[in-house]
Amino acid sequence: MEIYVYGTGCGAGELIDTALDARRVTAFVDPAAKGSFLGRPVIAPQELAGRPLDLLIVAGRQAEAIARELAELGIDENRVLYLKNHLIPAERNRNYALAERVLGKAYVERLRNSERMIRAPLWTQQERIAGPEADNDYVRLKTLEALCLRLDGVPGAVAELGVYRGGFSRWLNLLLPERTLLLFDTFEGFDPTEAQGQGDGFVEAHRNSSVERVLAALPHPEKAAVRQGLFPQTAQGLENERFALVSLDADLEESTYAGLCFFLPRMSEGGYLLLHDYNHPRLPGVRRAVERWEAEHGRLAAVPLCDVNGTLVISV
Ligand SMILES: C[S@@+](CC[C@H](N)C(=O)[O-])C[C@H]1O[C@@H](n2cnc3c(N)ncnc32)[C@H](O)[C@@H]1O
Repeated sequence: MEIYVYGTGCGAGELIDTALDARRVTAFVDPAAKGSFLGRPVIAPQELAGRPLDLLIVAGRQAEAIARELAELGIDENRVLYLKNHLIPAERNRNYALAERVLGKAYVERLRNSERMIRAPLWTQQERIAGPEADNDYVRLKTLEALCLRLDGVPGAVAELGVYRGGFSRWLNLLLPERTLLLFDTFEGFDPTEAQGQGDGFVEAHRNSSVERVLAALPHPEKAAVRQGLFPQTAQGLENERFALVSLDADLEESTYAGLCFFLPRMSEGGYLLLHDYNHPRLPGVRRAVERWEAEHGRLAAVPLCDVNGTLVISV
C-alpha cells in the first residue's frame, strides 16, 4: 500500500508513536522540510502529483489550506484522511473505511467521534485573529487575544519557552508588536536526557525547526530576541527582566519547573503566564511541575482552558 503522511511535526510524530509504523509510510510530505523523517523520505507536496497513492494522512492543523493545495494538485479527496478534522468547520473526511484498514477500527472510531470545534466572536470589536487561521487552536488563540487586550499599563516583555516552529510566538508578536519578544528554545529539540522514554516520533518531530524558520514566521522579527540553547542556562543575564506575558510550552517536567521558577517571580502584576499542556494526557510532567511549585510557594491563581491541549492560564 502506498501511504503518505502530510507533515513532519508533532501531529505526524504522534501518529507514528500511536497508530502507524513509520516503515509503512512511503514518504512524508512537507513544503519546508528536506531529507528524511523517522527514516523515511520527505517530499514536497508537488511531488505527489501522478504518484500511485492509496492513502494520504494529513497530520497538520492547517487542514483548510492543505485541502486547497491538494485539490489544486488533483489528489482524489477519497484518498485523504484529515487527523485534525475536528478543528475544521466542515467534515472533510470521505473514506473512513479505507482509513480503518490502515489505522485500525479503534483509532478511526475516536477520530470520527471527536468533538467539533465551536467558534464564537470575541465581543471586543478589536479582533486581530479571525478566519481559518484561528481554527488551529481556537480557544487558546482567542483567549490569548482577550488577555492581550488587558495588558495595557502592565509593563514588561513577552516571552516563550518552547518555541518550536514559532506557531504561537507568531501570535504573541502580532498581538503585542511594541514589546520585546524573548524566544527560548534549542531549536533542535529536547534535552535528550530529559526526553528519555518519550516516543521517537515526538522526539524527532521537535528537532525539525530552526531560528531562521521561526524568524521568517514572525510579523515583527525585529522585536524578537532569540535565546538559543538549553533553558534555564539561556536565561542567564536576564535576572532583572520583567514580563507581562509568558507562554511556557516545554512539554517535560524539569524544563517546565525551571520555567515556572524563572518566570513567575519576574512577572509584572496584571500579567499572565500561559502554561500549555497542563491537562495533556500524555505530558503528565507539566502538571507535576505545577504541583511542585505550589507545594513550595502556595496555590497559584489559575484558570484551566478547554483548548486542544489543556492550557492553564496563571494570573499574577
Ligand atoms: C511543544 S514544542 C513548543 C510548541 C510551540 N510553543 C507552539 O505552540 O508551536 C516544545 C519545545 O520546547 C523546547 N524545549 C523543551 N525544553 C527545553 C529546554 N530546557 N530548553 C530549550 N528548549 C526546550 C523543545 O525544543 C521544543 O521545541
